[in-house]
Amino acid sequence: MQQEEQLLHKGVSDLNIAKPDQFLQIDRLSKNFDDMVAVDAVSLSIKKGEIFALLGASGCGKSTLLRMLAGFETPSSGTIVLEGQEITYMPPYLRPINMMFQSYALFPHLTVWENVAFGLKRDGMSASEIDQRVEAMLVLTQLKPFVKRKPHQLSGGQQQRVALARSLAKRPKLLLLDEPLGALDKKLREETQIELVNIIKQVGVTCVMVTHDQEEAMTMADRITVMQKGRFLQVGEPHAVYETPASRYVADFIGNVNLFKGNVIVDEADHVIIEGPECKHYVSHGITGTQGMQVHVALRPEKIGLQRTPPTPEQRESVAEDGYNFARGVIKNMAYLGSYTTYHVKLETGMTIKIMQTNAARHEETRLELGDEAYAWWDGSDVVVLTQ
Ligand SMILES: Nc1ncnc2c1ncn2[C@@H]1O[C@H](COP(=O)(O)OP(=O)(O)O)[C@@H](O)[C@H]1O
Ligand SMILES: [Mg+2]
Repeated sequence: MQQEEQLLHKGVSDLNIAKPDQFLQIDRLSKNFDDMVAVDAVSLSIKKGEIFALLGASGCGKSTLLRMLAGFETPSSGTIVLEGQEITYMPPYLRPINMMFQSYALFPHLTVWENVAFGLKRDGMSASEIDQRVEAMLVLTQLKPFVKRKPHQLSGGQQQRVALARSLAKRPKLLLLDEPLGALDKKLREETQIELVNIIKQVGVTCVMVTHDQEEAMTMADRITVMQKGRFLQVGEPHAVYETPASRYVADFIGNVNLFKGNVIVDEADHVIIEGPECKHYVSHGITGTQGMQVHVALRPEKIGLQRTPPTPEQRESVAEDGYNFARGVIKNMAYLGSYTTYHVKLETGMTIKIMQTNAARHEETRLELGDEAYAWWDGSDVVVLTQ
């Protein structure tokens, strides 16, 4: 077995041409600190030009994985292959990789121009080439007006762009970002997320980023993974992970979710019926092999309707019969947030569900108030059934 693995690894390191969808290949990569497993045999292929986000709660192993890619941490086992070349144990300074930290680590006594040029000078690049590269980076990051300033004369967002310009100046094959916007406040963070993506996509550099902020990961990344205890729970495009989470942990980590308990009483190819204390759920797609199982029904707050009267059959196209997919409750809490309102509705069983309704019209005659009794209802196609 061990010999087989060695052969396999040798085979990987002998590859000279990487396929476009395997620009970066991580294979069963692990890192132990004493007897603690920080990263647990993760495998992943990343495409050229892709932005990939590692997402997860603090301590799940995001930074350790990123640091192994950068070469700052030695893997306990597994391999890293970049564009066909194995780099698992290559020292960081030889890797065509640049890592940008949350603290930016700009040189306080150097100007913007000098900060961006620093790494190029150290590499012994000619003065004219340095000029050209720095100029291009400053244009790209819209820092031209600030070339003569020092870091303390810049805003947080501008400092962040200097750090990015410096990271990209050496034209790395892989850019690593660890909580890149962690030091910025919420509004600036949101603006900068989009700016950053635009710059990364213009340069075409492949990027692996770490964040604990799910909105940031969803906004910036082409694909994300949710990590827990050093493992990938799910890998996919943001909308796929959001709309079809693979487990309760993922459903709850990515956005808000209501989880109803129930038992599968009908398991047909095209629909499933789940009976729980709150209501009977009609699911308009099959989940084979779940008959009799205890499951959770996951429903996003924005997919639930709320009104004074029970839902009509017309309101739920996919629910064939009446009596499914609604529950009566009392509005215990509501928050008007301008474009939408969130409600906490306490059902008769005692369970509280979260509902989000957009405020499309300015005046609504049927507006619900705190303490009102109302019906929460949903369509059979918006239900996600989770078996773990
Ligand atoms: N140098 C180290 N020595 C010992 N334990 C470490 C070291 N670095 C990280 N860890 C542990 O490994 C786990 C993963 O850490 P880290 O990768 O920093 O998580 P994250 O970035 O997701 O918050 C944590 O339990 C952390 O305490
Ligand atoms: Mg970290």
